[in-house]
Amino acid sequence: MDLPPPPNLASLSDLVSPPADSAMRRREFIFGAGTSSYQIEGAVHEDGRLESIWDRFCATPGKVLRGETGATACDHYHRWQDDLDILERLGLDAYRFSIAWPRVMDEAGRPNARGIDFYKRLLDGLAERGIRAFVTLYHWDLPQHLEDRGGWLNRETAQRFTDYADLMSRELAGRVAAWTTHNEPWCAAYLGYGDGHHAPGHKSTRSAAQAMHHLLLGHGLALPALRANDPKARQGIVANVAPGYADTDTAADRNAARLFETFQNRWVLDPLLKGEYPAELWRLRDDSEPVVAPGDMDIIQRPVDYLGLNFYSRAVLRSAGPDRFDWVRRPDVERTTMDWEVYPQGMQDLLEALDREYVRLPPLYITENGMSSDDGGDAGEVDDRQRQAYIKRHFAACSRAMANGVDVRGYFIWSLLDNFEWAFGYERRFGLVHVDFDTQQRTLKRSALAYADFLRERAAG
Ligand code: NOJ
Repeated sequence: MDLPPPPNLASLSDLVSPPADSAMRRREFIFGAGTSSYQIEGAVHEDGRLESIWDRFCATPGKVLRGETGATACDHYHRWQDDLDILERLGLDAYRFSIAWPRVMDEAGRPNARGIDFYKRLLDGLAERGIRAFVTLYHWDLPQHLEDRGGWLNRETAQRFTDYADLMSRELAGRVAAWTTHNEPWCAAYLGYGDGHHAPGHKSTRSAAQAMHHLLLGHGLALPALRANDPKARQGIVANVAPGYADTDTAADRNAARLFETFQNRWVLDPLLKGEYPAELWRLRDDSEPVVAPGDMDIIQRPVDYLGLNFYSRAVLRSAGPDRFDWVRRPDVERTTMDWEVYPQGMQDLLEALDREYVRLPPLYITENGMSSDDGGDAGEVDDRQRQAYIKRHFAACSRAMANGVDVRGYFIWSLLDNFEWAFGYERRFGLVHVDFDTQQRTLKRSALAYADFLRERAAG
C-alpha cells in the first residue's frame, strides 16, 4: 500500500526514557497493538457470518450514538493485508486481535470453512511478516442465536464456548503465540447484563453476576482443549482493571475505594486466582449471588500461563453509606475524550498492589492501554501529542513496577486503528492510526511514528 515516507523522527523517539526503561527494552519484552473483530472487520453478511448480539444491539434505536453500527467499521475484512503492512511498518512484535465467533461456526456448531479461512490467511500474513499473534476468542460478539437461548445467563453457553475454543485451537494450532479466552469479562457481564450499556442490553444485577459466572466457567472449561490442541501456545484471560483511590483520608472513603476495587477487579480476579468470589460483593450488589454448581470454582481457577490487564484510568471514590460508594469527579485534571482521567501512576500502583495481593499471580501482559482523543493536525498529518505523552508516561509507570519486581512480559497499545467504540460509535478515536471512515484512508498518527521509532531504536540495540 502507498504510505507517505516517515518524517524526521529525531524528536519523536522519546517514548521510553532511561533509566527506568531497561526491562522494557529487553528483546524478549513484547510490544504490540490490539483490535477486535466487531470493532474493525465490517463485512457482517459475508462468507456465512451469522448475526451477533452487537449487530442486533446496533439495530435497536437509541443503543448506539447516532445509530452507528459495525457493518463496515474499518473494512478490515477486505483490507487486512494493508493493515498487516502497517503493523510491519511499525515494527511491532505482536498483534492482538479477536475471532468473530459468528463467522466460524453455524447454528448447529459445525465449522464454517469460509470464515475460518479468513483467520488462517490473517495468521499466515502475520507469520510472513514475523509478527506474533495474540488471539482472543471472545471479544463480545456472541452469536445472536445463543443469546436467543439465554446468552451468558444460560449455563449451556459456557459449553458452546468450549466447543468453539476447541474448534479454533484445532484449526489454528501452531499459528498462535497466545490464546485469550475472554476479553474483559467484567464488561461482557456488567455492561451487557447489568447496566445495559452494551449488548445484549439487559439491566439486572443478578443477571450480571450469573453472566459473569458462566463467562468464567466457559474460560475454565476451554483451557484443557486449548492446551491439548495447541500445546506450544500460551493461554490466558484478559481483565479490565482500575485502581480506586479514597477521596479523603478517612476510614469510610478508604473503605469505599476498597469496595470499588472489589467490584471492578476482584469480582473477576478472585475467582480466577483464589477460586472464590469476594463475599462482600453480594452485599455491594444487593444479594445477587449467582448459582454456582459444585466443582465450578475449581474449573474457573485452573492455572493459566498469563493474565492480560487492560488499563486506562483510575477511580476516586467516597463513601455513600455502608457497602456503598460514589465516584468523585476530580476537577482540573487531564482527561481523554472518554472523560477518563489520565493518571499513569495508577498503573504502577495497581500492578504492585496486584502483585502483593495474589500469591498465584501469573506473568502479566498489559493487553490494552491507550486513549481516545480529538486529534488535530494538517491534512496528511495527525498530531496526537497527547496520546504520545500518555503512552510515554504509562510506559514509564509500567517500567517502575517492573523495576520493583512485577513480572510484566509485554505491552499492547489500544488500538492499532480508530474503530467502532461500541455504544459510542465512531466518535471516540483510540487509534495509533487515523481512519477516515468515508474513504477508509489510513494515516499514521504522530504517536504511531514515535512508537515505530522507539521500536527501531530498540532493534538496533
Ligand atoms: C476495552 C475493550 O476491550 C475495547 O474493545 C475498547 O474499545 C477499549 N477498552 C476502549 O474502551
